Amino acid sequence: MKKGLLLLALLGVMYCLSAQDIKLQSPSKSGGKPLMEALNERQSHRTFVKKDLSAQDLSDLLWAANGFNREDKRTVPTSQNKQEMDVYVMLSTGVYLYDAKENILKLIEKGDLRKALGQPAISENASLSLIYVANLDKASNREAGFIDSGFIAQNVYLYCASTGLGSVVRASFTRPGLHEVLKLTEKQEITIVQAVGHIK
Ligand SMILES: Cc1cc2nc3c(=O)[nH]c(=O)nc-3n(C[C@H](O)[C@H](O)[C@H](O)COP(=O)(O)O)c2cc1C
Repeated sequence: MKKGLLLLALLGVMYCLSAQDIKLQSPSKSGGKPLMEALNERQSHRTFVKKDLSAQDLSDLLWAANGFNREDKRTVPTSQNKQEMDVYVMLSTGVYLYDAKENILKLIEKGDLRKALGQPAISENASLSLIYVANLDKASNREAGFIDSGFIAQNVYLYCASTGLGSVVRASFTRPGLHEVLKLTEKQEITIVQAVGHIK
């Protein structure tokens, strides 16, 4: 009986996860440098050693960026609690959408699509780039998405400072090209991009 239930649960998980989604580890929510040290070390880095983040760092980074720290609220505030921001993750293997509730990266498109990010010296050496996208159907207004992205970006800067990773937020990318690569609708708007990697 127990075995049968286990098998059913396993089949359920396999059904929900498409073959190429990435199941994230549980975020650790502890450790790192004290806040004042992280603030003191926060800065933009643009030169990276080509190396992936560890699975734990990837999960922790995304949780810091836009994860849930309460049942239905997140590590970042949003105007009128609209929670209109989505975080897309560009890896060398493809582009993914961070699903914070399920703690998975949902595959949007497979392949090395990093050219669409611009500034190749940064984006093709970084471990990944985060792309912040406002859902205009949810947002209280268009400006809110840009403001709310700032909180995500600063959380990511501080997470990186606290763990010895490097990061830079970037507005210089070609909006229509990246919009297409992410398969966004006209009701979704890219606000800013942020590279994260191992400092050279
Ligand atoms: C809205 C915004 C857009 C930015 N765009 C870029 C960019 O496209 N490329 C880049 O290399 N840095 C970019 N930066 C990073 C700034 O150049 C950097 O924050 C600034 O020089 C201060 O350095 P610091 O972050 O080390 O304090 C951007 C920063 C902000 C806030």
